Amino acid sequence: MLKFLKAGLLATGFVAAANAAYAADAGEGEKVFRKCAACHSVGEDAKSRVGPQLNDVFGRQAGTVDKFKYSAAMVAAGEAGVVWDEQTLTQFLVKPRDFVSGTKMAFAGLRKSADVANVIEYLKTFDSDLAGTVGQEESSGEEVQTAMAEEAPPAAAQDHAPDHDGAFGLGRVATEDEIAAWDIDVRPDGLGLPVGKGTVADGEVLFTDNCAVCHGDFGEGVGRWPVLAGGQDTLTDSRPVKTIGSYWPYLSTVYDYVKRAMPFGNARSLSDDDVYAITAYLLYLNDVVDDEEFELSNENFEDIHLPNEGNFIPDDRFEEAHYAKKDEPCMTDCKPAPVTITMRAQVLDVTPDTDDDSAGGQID
Ligand code: HEC
Ligand code: HEC
Repeated sequence: MLKFLKAGLLATGFVAAANAAYAADAGEGEKVFRKCAACHSVGEDAKSRVGPQLNDVFGRQAGTVDKFKYSAAMVAAGEAGVVWDEQTLTQFLVKPRDFVSGTKMAFAGLRKSADVANVIEYLKTFDSDLAGTVGQEESSGEEVQTAMAEEAPPAAAQDHAPDHDGAFGLGRVATEDEIAAWDIDVRPDGLGLPVGKGTVADGEVLFTDNCAVCHGDFGEGVGRWPVLAGGQDTLTDSRPVKTIGSYWPYLSTVYDYVKRAMPFGNARSLSDDDVYAITAYLLYLNDVVDDEEFELSNENFEDIHLPNEGNFIPDDRFEEAHYAKKDEPCMTDCKPAPVTITMRAQVLDVTPDTDDDSAGGQID
């Protein structure tokens, strides 16, 4: 308890200083919250995920969201009197592990005091008691009116008002921006790669901040989250470890996947350069490159080959005689000779050994 009190005194000065220098901005806080969104949700239907939901966090005793499994440390902090308010949140978000030693919130903390103040302001908008106070000091009636006027759809959107020419008279033609936002796939030959670059060393920092929580500092995987490195020479084992280095054929898949889907829960929050840097770091973790200064870019991307590429073959089905002829496919009695069993399912012994089927379905 003493620890919390002492820390509390220190932070009061900090909050005051931060506020004096900076008027907190919930809009900026929304951007900061992207860092939290991998684990926390707010707003309507917010659910606890990796971390507890953060609606109505002000006035909440630490560690008390129903059904969320907190660390013993967080529960103890709440029992010792920690209640979330501007001050305790500030202390916690600057250095979570210092404020609640033993917390399982795997987050290093926010370095910039403006980020802390802004994200707290943003959280207030999801607090039923405080939502009304956000931005009040600054905005006079006039400003509110301008803000409302600005909400009218921008001219660009009006240009793309419904166009009823299509077959069903529905919808409108997608704008170029909308198409560009969807069109992010990258092909093995590099088509679709954005211009950009990033080094192994930059990637290491980004990976530690955004990915290591789940995938481990070295891609070894935390708990049951996926392993991203290692596994070389295991492909013929009964349980192969399939990673980027041991299994994936093309680097384009790494770029595309990370850009499209990671970090889990906060997908598409990384810049193109960030994805280059992280991809470079993943190459380093998989021993494909060994220089921390190595810089991956759209220029040298195609020069990199993953170790298992040679074991993949292009899908050439449509050149095979059978498909090329475009005959009607055979659907009945297609095999000229009598049918015999030539192979057995190995792990699950599902192929019947005897006539009465009793040996089927056993697991060995
Ligand atoms: C990697 C996942 C992760 C990230 C990122 C993360 N948190 Fe957490 N957070 C957690 C977990 C897990 C807990 C529960 C901690 C415990 O039980 O020790 C938690 C607890 C909290 C609590 C205490 C809530 C309560 O009910 O007592 C607050 C407040 C909080 N986080 C805010 C934030 C904010 C704001 C950010 C972003 C700046 C953030 N967290 C980033 C996982 C995360
Ligand atoms: C909150 C946990 C979490 C975080 C943070 C996270 N990932 Fe993932 N990652 C996952 C999960 C879960 C999967 C598997 C998803 C699936 O199979 O649908 C995955 C899959 C992957 C894969 C594919 C692995 C494979 O062999 O199939 C890569 C590559 C990857 N993540 C990279 C990253 C990178 C890079 C970051 C940081 C920018 C990141 N992840 C952050 C949870 C996370």
